[in-house]
Amino acid sequence: MKIELAQRIRALPPYLFADIDRKKVELRKQGKDLIDLGIGDPDRPTPPHIVAAMQQATAESKYHRYPSYEGMASFREAAAKFYADRFGVMGLDPEREVVALIGSKEGIAHFPVAFVDPGDLVLVPDPGYPVYATWTRFMGGEVHYVRLLRENGFLPDLSSVPEEVARRAKILWINYPNNPTAALATRAFYAQVVEFALKYDIIVASDLAYSEVYYDDVPPPSFLEVPGARECGIEFHSLSKTYNMTGWRVGFAVGNAALVAGLGKVKTNTDSGAFEAVQAAAVAALTSSQACVDEIRGVYRERMDVLVSGLRGAGFDVLDPRATFYCLIANPQGYSSAEFASKLLIEGGIVATPANGFGPGGEGYVRLTVCAEVERIREAVERVRRVKL
Ligand SMILES: Cc1ncc(COP(=O)(O)O)c(C=O)c1O
Repeated sequence: MKIELAQRIRALPPYLFADIDRKKVELRKQGKDLIDLGIGDPDRPTPPHIVAAMQQATAESKYHRYPSYEGMASFREAAAKFYADRFGVMGLDPEREVVALIGSKEGIAHFPVAFVDPGDLVLVPDPGYPVYATWTRFMGGEVHYVRLLRENGFLPDLSSVPEEVARRAKILWINYPNNPTAALATRAFYAQVVEFALKYDIIVASDLAYSEVYYDDVPPPSFLEVPGARECGIEFHSLSKTYNMTGWRVGFAVGNAALVAGLGKVKTNTDSGAFEAVQAAAVAALTSSQACVDEIRGVYRERMDVLVSGLRGAGFDVLDPRATFYCLIANPQGYSSAEFASKLLIEGGIVATPANGFGPGGEGYVRLTVCAEVERIREAVERVRRVKL
C-alpha cells in the first residue's frame, strides 16, 4: 500500500535541528559529556506542595472521569483570580472569558483552527515560537513575518506593516517575555498594539507563557492590562515554566469571550479536557503562596549571571536577557548560526540552538538556556572559552 502524507505535512519546512540532533546522538554514543543548553525545559522538580495536591487529587474518584471541556470551575476561577492579583486585570468571567488548556501549546495550535480560513493572513513574529506559523499554514492561512530587530528591542515595528497587509490580516501574534530573544514588552507597546488591532480589525493573540520568569525588579505586564485589549485579544498562559510543570500539560487562555468561545468550540470537537487531578494541582499552584516562584526565579537569575558575565568576559556579544531562561549570543564573525552551534557541540560538548530555527530573523544568533545547574553552566562557559573560533 502506498502511504502518502497530507500536503500540509509535506509542506512543513525541513527540521532545522536535525543535523544538531544527529550529532548529539553520535557524540553521546561516543561517551562524550554534553552540557545540554538547547532545550527550554526546567530541570528542577515541581514544588512539593503542588505534587502533594496532585497525589491527593489522584486518589479522588470524582477526578477519574472525563473532564469538562472548558475546564473545572475552580480552575477557571483560580485563573481569573491570578489575573486580578498578578496583573490587575479585574472581573474576568471564569465561565465566558477563561478556558483550560492541555498546556498553552495546545491552545496556541488550536486557535487558528477557529479563526483562520484558507487565504487569511496572519502576522507572525520573526524570530518566534514556531507553532504560530505552522498552524496558520495548516489552516491554509498565509504567514506574514514581522521582524523583531535588536535595534527595536525585539518589538515589532507595526508602522512598517504595509497598509494592504494590515487590512488583510486576521491575527497578530505577540509573545513577551519573548522566546527566543528574552525581550520584554511595555504597556506603551501593548497600547500601540491595541490601536493597530482596532484600526484594522485584527485579533491579537498574546503568548504569556514566560510571565513569571523575569530578572528586572518590575514584573512584566499582561497584554490584557491595557484599555481595549479585551475587545480584540486573547492571552495564552501556562503553568509549565512558572512552576516547573512542563510535563503536567496545563495552561489556560483568557480574554475576549467570543475568542475564548471559538477556541472552546474547537476543543469540544478535539480533546476531552485536561485531567481534573492536574487541574486541582494547578489550582493549588495558582492560589498558594508564590514563594516557590520567587525561588525558581532566583535560581535562574544566578545561572544567567554566571552565563552572561562569563561569555561576555570571553568576548562574546551576549544580548541582555530581561526575562525567560534563554539568552541569545551573536555568532562570531564568519559563522552562520548552524555553524556556530555545530562548533559549540563538536568542540565544546555544548548543545545550543541555532536561532534561525525560530524563523529567518534568528539567523545571526544561537540560543542558550539556563535549564542546567550552575556548576554545569560554569563548566559550559569554560568550554566555550576553549573553542577555537
Ligand atoms: C513562547 C512559548 N509559548 C508557549 C510554549 C508552550 O508551553 P506549554 O505548552 O508547556 O504551556 C512554549 C514552550 O516552550 C514557548 O516557548
